[in-house]
Amino acid sequence: MGFPEDMTQKMISEIPSEKAGVTNDDYYENFDSFFDLQMMGERIEHVGLPEDVAERLRSSERNDFLVLGSATVKNINEVTRIAHHIHGKKQVVNDVITIVDLNDTSIRMHKEAVEQLDRKSDWTGTTVRESSAEAFPYPRFNVERGDIRNLPYGDSTKDVVISDYTINFLDTPEDINGCFGEVARVLKEDGVLFIAFRYKKDDDAPIERASQGGVIISKMRLEDYLASATRSGLTILKKETIYTEGAAGDIMVVFGKDPDKRSRT
Ligand SMILES: C[S@@+](CC[C@H](N)C(=O)[O-])C[C@H]1O[C@@H](n2cnc3c(N)ncnc32)[C@H](O)[C@@H]1O
Repeated sequence: MGFPEDMTQKMISEIPSEKAGVTNDDYYENFDSFFDLQMMGERIEHVGLPEDVAERLRSSERNDFLVLGSATVKNINEVTRIAHHIHGKKQVVNDVITIVDLNDTSIRMHKEAVEQLDRKSDWTGTTVRESSAEAFPYPRFNVERGDIRNLPYGDSTKDVVISDYTINFLDTPEDINGCFGEVARVLKEDGVLFIAFRYKKDDDAPIERASQGGVIISKMRLEDYLASATRSGLTILKKETIYTEGAAGDIMVVFGKDPDKRSRT
């Protein structure tokens, strides 16, 4: 659907720059948990992984996960569930989950929630992490301020990257290329990216921007997202349509690293 170009431009110019992509505090306080990582977890279980990749992640000593953007602290539990699924409940205590976001409110909320896991309760002397360990073991968490277009991590350091609609917060094709290039760089050779995003179907402009709840959401064509990822050195392992009707669609794609294209273009 979207908006006519001139109206989009007007709305974008009316929104203070800090609301573009990385939003104001209200966004995080009122974030609708319908969009949290619970559905992403369900999709990951449903779509599955090629057996050799699943086995490698299941049997590894430790997996390093990276979550690109998180607007709600509920994701600490949701991404733990994803790690349980990928690595197994017992092994997950060896895993490290890094959450990276550019917004200070999001960072503060997530840091407080992670500290809460290890804060001793007054009367039992146990922490949330300890008291829930049998039924719901947690991995370790890092919460860091960083830009998904320029990730503050070394090459080939992450086993699993998760991105749930975060690339729709990037509003130029260059930024989207930059993000895929960074993911390809930080993923280990046999690492995977689970990514969900919304795309547009028309051929009008290369990218369509619209204001949604005070945030600018951008969409490119599906072919353009996939071409950007493959140019960056990623290869499609699995694809699943989430929704497609009218002018837009939502999809989840599982990417691995393209073994024939180790260096970025
Ligand atoms: C819609 S949320 C992601 C949705 C996700 N399902 C969730 O549960 O949070 C997008 C997040 O990405 C962050 N973000 C947007 N642009 C970013 C950038 N360039 N670098 C890092 N984080 C960014 C925003 O601050 C926000 O927290």
